This record gives sequence, structure tokens and C-alpha cells, in this order.
Amino acid sequence: MAIPGDFRDWLSERFGPCARFGEPMSRHTSLGVGGPAEAWISVPDLPGLIELVSKMRQAGLSWRITGRGTNLWVRDEGLSGVVMTLGKGFTGIGLIGEDSGLILVRAGAGASLSALCRFAIKHGFSGMNFAVGIPGSVGGAVSGNAGTAAGCVADRITGLEIITPDAAPRRIDRNDLDFSYRSLARAAEFFGSPERPSIITGAIFALKPGNGDEIAAEAEALAARRKASQPWGVKSAGCFFKNPKGASAGQLIDKAGLKGLRVNDALVSPVHANFLVNAGHASSSDFLALVEMVKGEVKKTFGVELELEVITPGD
Ligand code: EPU
Repeated sequence: MAIPGDFRDWLSERFGPCARFGEPMSRHTSLGVGGPAEAWISVPDLPGLIELVSKMRQAGLSWRITGRGTNLWVRDEGLSGVVMTLGKGFTGIGLIGEDSGLILVRAGAGASLSALCRFAIKHGFSGMNFAVGIPGSVGGAVSGNAGTAAGCVADRITGLEIITPDAAPRRIDRNDLDFSYRSLARAAEFFGSPERPSIITGAIFALKPGNGDEIAAEAEALAARRKASQPWGVKSAGCFFKNPKGASAGQLIDKAGLKGLRVNDALVSPVHANFLVNAGHASSSDFLALVEMVKGEVKKTFGVELELEVITPGD
């Protein structure tokens, strides 16, 4: 259902310039594509979020939450309903205690994953370096169980803080979180429905005491390796496809001879074939056509069905 006029008025009154209507999602995705969000709100803080969720619930509206848009592929048609992103009030990172020799660090879901990595390095806590160079927010990283060959969110997380669809704060224990490769299952009991999902507001990570200089040196080496093997400074959503079991999507696309393949400005990166990049002014439809070509060729050549890793809201 379309957002009613009185609700729009309330959004403008409550959130001022942080609430925008018809906001192009291309401005909020690292891929730089995506049509307008019916309403887009940068929610400033927890009281604002609780109030917003409660009002949306009462009004029977649906909502979505995005992080920093680094793993998002939004269609040219845009997104209906309310699209929220978490603002400044959700970026805190701090030490909250110790448990059996492990150090517990809480990060707000709106903090960047790289800020969390820097925090760990500064304090000499080891265990976050797997995430060095992964863009995006903590909330986004948790939702997609972000990771590399060196580890993933599921290896470190001990609990989550959410706001439920009833606008109530709740904690979820690690034991109740069902992570798998690049995914976190959304049990309705905790995460609500796809139309009215719970919102992750913070996460707790268990790290180990270590040596700051050594951790910093390791982080630098990892970042350098990443810079050498992945495209840098271009519009991308990271790896576009999941790695099929026992194989690398990038290697398959490369071996199929598809590096450099392009549809207008949507391009298979010549640096790393699992990066489909926006080389200028690509549209979402350009990526749609490119993805079909890549999937088709990989299927024809290797008999492997590639699955998207990027999130495609609205599908
Ligand atoms: N390869 C090629 N050609 C290419 C790309 C890769 O031959 O164009 C080969 C590499 O030489 C290597 C193998 O494929 O032998 C694996 O490549 P890489 O080490 O780059 O790892 P990946 O499996 O392609 C995964 C993650 C990346 C993460 C890297 C590094 C997925 C889908 N991708 O990539 O994550 O940065 O490992 O740990 O799991 C992301 O999630 O957005 C992402 C980029």
C-alpha cells in the first residue's frame, strides 16, 4: 500500500531532512544504481527508531532496512514503502566486558565494519582481521554473515540486539542465531516477516587479547593482498555471486572468458571476475542483462548455476 499523506507529513515533521520521498537509491548503494525509494529515512537514534517502527506498525505499512548499501542491487523501479538506514546514534563501539578470557565488544549496527576493525587493532584485540577491507555496516555484515577465507561474522558474534516489529528492544543469543555461508536465517520468532522485519541495532563480538602491532601488521598485509586482487576505487557491490560448493565464482567466470564483458557501463571487472562494476552510468537493467549473460555462459561452460550474493530487495 502507498504511504498515506498524513504519514508522510508525520515523517517530515519528526525526521526533518532525514526523511526524503522518491529518494534515488543509486545515491545510497555502492554500485550506484537503483530507482527511487517511496520514503527513505536516515533514523537518527534508538528513540526515533522505536517511535518510527511503532507508527509504521499502527499504520499497517511495510518497511525495509538497509545498511551502507555496499551489498545491494536495487532495481530501476525502486522500492515501495519505507526504507530505513541507521544514522549517527547507532555507530558507537565499546568494550562491554570479559567472559572466560574473551573480550566482549559491542558495536552499533550503523557503525562501519572497518571502524570495528580499527577499534580492535587500536586496543590490541585479535579476531576481527578477517573483516579488513570488507565495506559496509556492522548490521549489514551480520545480516549477510560477511566474511572472507580468513573467517566470518558467525565465528565471532556472541549476541544481537534488535528492535522487534512490535517496536520492543530484544536480545538474541548466539545459540539462537542460525548462520550459514553468507547468510543468517530469519526465524520469524526473532526476525518478524519480510514485510515487517526486526531491525538489528547492535551486535556483540568476542575477541581475544593480543598484540596491537602484530594485529596491525597482519591487517595491513591482508588489505594489501585485497587491493592487489580486487578492483579498487570503482563502483561495485563486492562479489556479485556466491561461491558454488568447492569452487570460486570469480575463477569460473574468468575461465569462461568473461572478464571485460560489458552491457553499456555494467562491466565484468578485468581485475576480479566476480566483481560486476559500474564503470560510469550503468542502470540496474544493464546489470540485469550482464548477470543473465554471465550466468548463461558459466552454466553452458561448467554446468554450474551461479547464485547471487548481492541482495536484491523488491524481488
Ligand atoms: N580467481 C581467478 N580469476 C578471477 C578471480 C579469482 O582465477 O577473476 C581465482 C584466484 O586466483 C584464486 C581463486 O579464484 O585462486 C579464489 O579467488 P579469491 O582468493 O579472490 O577469492 P574468492 O573466492 O573469489 C572470496 C570472497 C571475497 C573475499 C575473498 C578473499 C565470496 C563470494 N567471495 O572470494 O568476498 O574478499 O574470498 O578472502 O565468498 C564479497 O563477499 O563481496 C567478497 C568479495
